[in-house]
Amino acid sequence: MADAVIEQIKQRVDIIELLSEYLKLQKAGSNWRALCPFHHENSPSFMVSQDKQIWHCFGCDKGGDIFTFIQEIEGIDFPETLKLLAQRANVTLAHYNPSQQDKKQRLLQLVNAAQQFYAQALQQSQDGEVARNYIAQRGLTDASVSAFGIGYSFDTWSRLKDYLKAQGYSDSDQAEAGLLIKPDGGGGYYDRFRGRLMIPLHDINGTVVGFTARTLKADETGGKYINSPQSSLYDKSHIVFGLFRAKQAIKKLNAALVVEGNLDAITAQQHGFPNTVATSGTAFTEQQLLQLKRFSSNLLLAFDLDAAGEQAAQRGIDLALQHNMNIKVVRWPEQYKDPDECIRADAAVFKEAIRQAIHIVDYWFMQASRDLQLTRVEHKKLFTQRILPKLAKLADHVEVAHYVQRLADLVRVDANLLHEQLAKLRGGKGNAVKVKGQGSAVSNQQLEVRIGRLGWLSIFWVSY
Ligand code: CTP
Ligand code: MN
Repeated sequence: MADAVIEQIKQRVDIIELLSEYLKLQKAGSNWRALCPFHHENSPSFMVSQDKQIWHCFGCDKGGDIFTFIQEIEGIDFPETLKLLAQRANVTLAHYNPSQQDKKQRLLQLVNAAQQFYAQALQQSQDGEVARNYIAQRGLTDASVSAFGIGYSFDTWSRLKDYLKAQGYSDSDQAEAGLLIKPDGGGGYYDRFRGRLMIPLHDINGTVVGFTARTLKADETGGKYINSPQSSLYDKSHIVFGLFRAKQAIKKLNAALVVEGNLDAITAQQHGFPNTVATSGTAFTEQQLLQLKRFSSNLLLAFDLDAAGEQAAQRGIDLALQHNMNIKVVRWPEQYKDPDECIRADAAVFKEAIRQAIHIVDYWFMQASRDLQLTRVEHKKLFTQRILPKLAKLADHVEVAHYVQRLADLVRVDANLLHEQLAKLRGGKGNAVKVKGQGSAVSNQQLEVRIGRLGWLSIFWVSY
């Protein structure tokens, strides 16, 4: 039966139309051609046949039909792909119902119902006025509120629970989806989110999987933000906030603008930076980086790298470097606390800050030399001690050589000596750069990436 559904979908979804949403396809004889999205290349070897409704890349040898393409590019499994394409083709999946899928579906529906409840409370309830005022004060437009599905949770103990119950959802399902809390010492379930601005967390396809909830109280009692707990639906380490809206812009502009706060991301998208995502205040995880990398290898980090959280942010940066991503640091004027404030005060100022973003290694050089005089021998030593461990983390040999030379020039020592020290650092601590799953099979691709990156050092920029 599944085969029949697949056939039906294939008949209704044209491969050229679908792939054009992800790639710049050009006609080549009876076929179409594009730069392969699955490996780095400068001349197109990715071919699509409209007659046969298949694709193949002669560079990396990947290929298949619309299903394999969506699976690869969206990073989702087959059942999810089937669902996505069925929706697009208006085909009902009556016969695809394994029981686990059933449960997940039910919980997703439940979270979706909660999101609508919160959104309606924001728009229409009297109590929601406090949240409406807050939204106005933060300068969020109706369009942003609706695009992100923002809502309001009543400041009561069971308003959501009662509503969802009336819709037929059990307390235990609601709790499993993270919406209710059951007290340890006994007693009944109650609403987790109360009296807060409700910001939905979407997966990469735009499905709501949880919430982050901001207090509306000036004294921030109960914590400024409360988030959905980890659940079978929501895995914090897998979600990049805002990516569901930003992904095509990231691809088009060939860079992701990364901020820390979720509201920073919403503000940025609203003010003409559509490629903005947020890390939600934590360090990048590998899964998050791999999701971003599907759309671009370039990251523009608008983090407060001088702040207390710098160490955590640094771990994420190291991971990104190990994945051979290119990182630039965006520094906005100090008078603004975060990108949100800067953009709202003057978006042009932030745009200029992006234009002047500096390469992460240049940033390290700047930071490390701030309090030093490089004419003094002990400061030269200190500077080298600060910089070398950082360089040891870079994956790209050309880049390493470039910056070792820079360091050698600055402290006026022989570059070979620094290379020796670097080798010791890498050997000793075992932090030589190895990306998970990197086998000999991909070495060509790596090489290609490296050659490509030679150019990258200077030519990666974004213009809006
Ligand atoms: N965060 C959190 N829990 C907290 C504080 C912060 O989960 N108690 C996360 C949120 O995702 C938040 C991000 O860390 O967006 C950055 O925190 P912070 O800079 O404190 O907040 P802002 O984003 O500036 O929040 P706001 O503008 O709403 O004050
Ligand atoms: Mn803020």
